[in-house]
Amino acid sequence: MARSWTTERLVLRQVPPDESEAVRAYGLRSREFHGPWDPIRPADFWEREVVARRLAHELDTAASDAGLVLYLSIAEDPDRIVGRIAFHNVVRGFSQSCTVGYGLAPEATGNGYMTEGLTAAVDRVAFGELGLHRVEAAVIPRNTRSLRVVERCGFIREGLSPRFLKIAGVWEDHVRFARLNPVMEQ
Ligand SMILES: CC(C)(COP(=O)(O)OP(=O)(O)OC[C@H]1O[C@@H](n2cnc3c(N)ncnc32)[C@H](O)[C@@H]1OP(=O)(O)O)[C@@H](O)C(=O)NCCC(=O)NCCS
Repeated sequence: MARSWTTERLVLRQVPPDESEAVRAYGLRSREFHGPWDPIRPADFWEREVVARRLAHELDTAASDAGLVLYLSIAEDPDRIVGRIAFHNVVRGFSQSCTVGYGLAPEATGNGYMTEGLTAAVDRVAFGELGLHRVEAAVIPRNTRSLRVVERCGFIREGLSPRFLKIAGVWEDHVRFARLNPVMEQ
């Protein structure tokens, strides 16, 4: 079942495959803007059936407790998707951690939506719902807007991992950040 959370201005929700058109429209509007910060995508990445399959896979992944993907909309226009926050690589046992990735459509930037959405997603979903202890983010040092987001959301800088992820075809150094769940710190 697809779940949703609301913040002051946003709706954060899981999206089922039958709403693939809204996700596809978001992806196509954002493709160029996200290009420098994304891995190289296969040519069919935004084809309708491929998006629908990916959405089904995201729900299966959530059901198996391996991750959770949320799409962001502005509350007054809930059917139009303007962003995405993806928790991946959930590790249980004595780690209780995951990684997070995020992006906004270009027209939605400059309003604090990601700061609002990511703060709520980490506190209420990763910590509150999934019960995780640690959420990790990795940012290319020249991605200044993303650095500002993680810093505003209370992530702590832990260090630099050389050649950490292959982004736009290049193994890029990344600054590693994490937020810890204060409720589990005892
Ligand atoms: C990273 C990304 C999500 C940041 O977007 P953003 O709009 O800068 O972030 P926010 O939504 O938190 O908005 C913050 C900006 O809105 C401004 N703002 C306006 N109204 C605001 C409000 N009510 N509350 C908070 N901030 C507000 C802030 O001043 C800030 O601008 P500044 O950083 O120039 O000072 C976006 O640039 C993006 O999608 N980039 C491409 C993908 C990407 O890089 N993903 C991350 C990979 S690690």
